Amino acid sequence: QDEDCERRIIAAKAALGKRAVILAHHYQRADVYKHADLTGDSLKLSRLASATDAEYLVFCGVHFMAEVADILSKPEQIAILPDLAAGCSMADMANLSKVERAWRELAEVLDPDEMVTPVTYINSAADLKAFCGEHGGIVCTSSNAVKILQCAFSRREKALFFPDQHLGRWSGYKLGLSPDEMPVWDFDEPMGGLTPEQIRKAKILLWKGHCSVHQMFQPQHILRFRNQYPEGKVISHPECNFEVCKNSDYVGSTEYIIKTIREAEPGTRWLVGTELNLVSRIAEEFKPEGKIIQFMASTICMCSTMARIDPQHLAWTLENLVAGKVVNRITVPEAEAQLAKLALERMLEVSI
Ligand code: 13P
Ligand code: SF4
Repeated sequence: QDEDCERRIIAAKAALGKRAVILAHHYQRADVYKHADLTGDSLKLSRLASATDAEYLVFCGVHFMAEVADILSKPEQIAILPDLAAGCSMADMANLSKVERAWRELAEVLDPDEMVTPVTYINSAADLKAFCGEHGGIVCTSSNAVKILQCAFSRREKALFFPDQHLGRWSGYKLGLSPDEMPVWDFDEPMGGLTPEQIRKAKILLWKGHCSVHQMFQPQHILRFRNQYPEGKVISHPECNFEVCKNSDYVGSTEYIIKTIREAEPGTRWLVGTELNLVSRIAEEFKPEGKIIQFMASTICMCSTMARIDPQHLAWTLENLVAGKVVNRITVPEAEAQLAKLALERMLEVSI
């Protein structure tokens, strides 16, 4: 059945030719990733989506990525997510009503000239990106969050960073901020569970969100590895908790992780704190160079929502396109898309 699916995908791709482009995030399962025309981290995929001329952008990733593809592509291009259930649990930890409530509560405490710049991680729904577009805010990804926060601080003194507290904290730390300057905004509590003094003192208010996959990695995994292999290197994604990032030799986006290990000396040993599909793939890819690549956790940490994009859904999507039928189109309403695009373009202007 797997072989049959593979054959169907190859045949449908050939029939569509340049009319369809398949974009895949690095966490995509191997049996889907191998069919991708373009791969990357969130920033790279955003740029690729805005640059392609294909009629159909078939996004093998999660929902917010396909939304970004729709926002940044031309109006006549069509973004498709092969399984609509492929969401991001972290993105779901922030929603417009909670962010608007935080905004109102902050406005009660802060003078208008002290108000925050809203900064949303790209792992968020389009309406939150639109909120940022409307309120002088900006989008960031894991590869440019430090630079984007600097940009946010050049606009206003403070930032409200959502939904990932860990990326926000790590980026703030890289900018020299202390924990007191980065309190967590608990969106289930009035005033985020903070006192007016804490809010006034804050430089970054960190939304209480996290990634369920990256939260599995812990400092003891690193300690155990270092005891066993003192010469080994540790590399992690900034969605990992602060102690994991602090104890890693390198921290960066999925694209950065792949590039760093690719450029490393042959024969080096690595402990990698990010999603299992990516780690398994690079372990195979770099094995011939004698690089030994180990996954950080002892349990299986996969992005289960991204894994919903399977060969069956991809084959079905492509075959429908061949038959002239668009399934699972992702469309961001026009007004929302324009504001979200503003926040995305502010990001693309300042990041390389
Ligand atoms: P990257 O932009 O580093 O690929 O990260 C996306 C993501 O969702 C990580 O969990
Ligand atoms: Fe979202 Fe985490 Fe999956 Fe990344 S790994 S897409 S943050 S759930």
